[in-house]
Amino acid sequence: MQGDRLHLLSVVFNLLDNALKYSPGEPSIQIELNGDDKNVELSIKDNGIGIATEYQPKVFEKFFRVPAGDTHNTKGYGLGLSYVAHVVEKHKGDNIH
Ligand SMILES: Nc1ncnc2c1ncn2[C@@H]1O[C@H](COP(=O)(O)OP(=O)(O)OP(=O)(O)O)[C@@H](O)[C@H]1O
Ligand SMILES: [Mg+2]
Repeated sequence: MQGDRLHLLSVVFNLLDNALKYSPGEPSIQIELNGDDKNVELSIKDNGIGIATEYQPKVFEKFFRVPAGDTHNTKGYGLGLSYVAHVVEKHKGDNIH
């Protein structure tokens, strides 16, 4: 596909980083790449804590982190997925989850 190699690599890195960060215990990560001559679909699935339905539309907002109380103390700024959404949009894609 045509695209910005560096930014697309960073997208994958960010999604893998999250998959590892939010999977306590031994992470199991499933990566899938599908596509045809028009579209490419990348899917990264983990066996971690998941994201409650109510928060799913919000995780792409800048600085948003799912409120976790004291159940997990992973560090982050809430910026990774807003960056991901931006790069995907610039490649005329969308975020389906
Ligand atoms: N794979 C995942 N499993 C569970 N929750 C996730 C996952 N990916 C993202 N989230 C939730 O979405 C929020 C936003 O993710 P995002 O990558 O934007 O920020 P971050 O990981 O907290 O920090 P940063 O990426 O800036 O280091 C996270 O704080 C977390 O609450
Ligand atoms: Mg992140």
